[in-house]
Amino acid sequence: MNMNVELDIKSYIHPQSDLTAQEKSGPMIMTHGEGVYVFDDKGYKYLDSVAGLWCVTLGYDNQALKDAATNQMNQLPYFQTFANKSNNPTIELAAKLLEVAPGPMSKVIFQNSGSEAIDTAIKLVWYYQNARGKTAKKKIIGRHGSYHGTTVAAASLTGLPTMHSQFDLPIEGIIHTDNPNYYRFANVGETEADFSSRCIENLENQILNEGPQTIAAFFAEPVMGTGGVIVPPKTYFEKLQSVLKKYDILLVVDEVICGFGRTGNYWGSQTYNIKPDMITCAKGLSSAYLPISALLVSDDIYQAMKEGSDKVGIFGHGYTYSGHPACAAVALETLKQYEKLNTLDNIKAVAPGFQNGLRQYLNHPLVGDVRGVGLMGSIELVKDKKTKEGFDPSLMIGRKVEEFALRYGLILRALGNILVFAPPFIIKDHEIDKIIEIIGLALDETLAWHDNLA
Ligand SMILES: Cc1ncc(COP(=O)(O)O)c(C=O)c1O
Repeated sequence: MNMNVELDIKSYIHPQSDLTAQEKSGPMIMTHGEGVYVFDDKGYKYLDSVAGLWCVTLGYDNQALKDAATNQMNQLPYFQTFANKSNNPTIELAAKLLEVAPGPMSKVIFQNSGSEAIDTAIKLVWYYQNARGKTAKKKIIGRHGSYHGTTVAAASLTGLPTMHSQFDLPIEGIIHTDNPNYYRFANVGETEADFSSRCIENLENQILNEGPQTIAAFFAEPVMGTGGVIVPPKTYFEKLQSVLKKYDILLVVDEVICGFGRTGNYWGSQTYNIKPDMITCAKGLSSAYLPISALLVSDDIYQAMKEGSDKVGIFGHGYTYSGHPACAAVALETLKQYEKLNTLDNIKAVAPGFQNGLRQYLNHPLVGDVRGVGLMGSIELVKDKKTKEGFDPSLMIGRKVEEFALRYGLILRALGNILVFAPPFIIKDHEIDKIIEIIGLALDETLAWHDNLA
């Protein structure tokens, strides 16, 4: 056995993992990558249909990104950006993000992760309301089923019970509203538009019950990713934005997964005609080659930050690695690569094959729903297609499909009974075909395994 397997079990805590199962099974150790493929330490090759964690948008061997990191490391591996210090890649990256932003944004602040971008946004919501003298307007609304990260505030905003339980979360002042999952929560015969109206009416009632003067901001992913690729039902964002406007509530759009092309447009905000006050992005910002996230803020928010900073003498927020030059250089090159490689055109060209391919499994006995847009998609497994009854979680049927897919050389991600897919933006038609083919094989094997249990 590879000695590092034992060392891993002895030494390393795996995030978002079943720790007891992890101790038994040990790790899967990856050694290198090539295009949309990764290789493990036994030499097996896998097509990665989730781009790591929805993030390796340019695949695993983009030389320009490696060069950008190396060159910047050779020139200036680090310098702080506190107290007016700066570096060229960070300056250019901020300017580039404002240029490609989906609407008028005023300034950019950098962090190291999506979670930190969300925490920064939450702090800025409070800062903004204080600057306006609306000191009671502080509550934040997120949605059940959403995922915004795992730092204290981001995990609180996340609407998944496993991120709260045993951690004493959510913190006070963060509340959750309906999950707009049409498949799961629409009434029989209800149209998507009617379902959206119902979700937004519930939200409005919630706002009125809490007191609109206490509600500061609403956070939303354009498409809820980790919640199972929940594509918003028709008219959802239109109705949402009108209620938020009515009660003077900021809209923060979490583009950590959707940004840079994932939904078929450069931003998820463009796909769903959303006008954000702030935008968080990470993952595809650097194709995950180095950790970096950005928060883009409107001019109103920036002016409030300036006022606050004038009052206190300093804008008291930021991280040692905010504006890290090597991370910024890689992110800047990533944005250039999107243009050079026409990744958006590629996404638009391959997405129909991907979406149609996934949908062909709607007839499979294990499949209740197939959802998706652009290059993100999901397959929800159910025990009973008619009643939509799910499988007993202890069966871990999603993990079973994952295991069978691995044997055929495909990495997918099971989130409970939902299989999610988000391949790199550079994926080609024949690689999509391979993903679709292996999903079919893995579903069939899982069905046979399940039937054998009876
Ligand atoms: C929509 C969204 N927001 C925030 C995050 C948190 O990002 P990170 O894991 O980089 O902290 C994620 C991570 O998956 C995400 O999907």
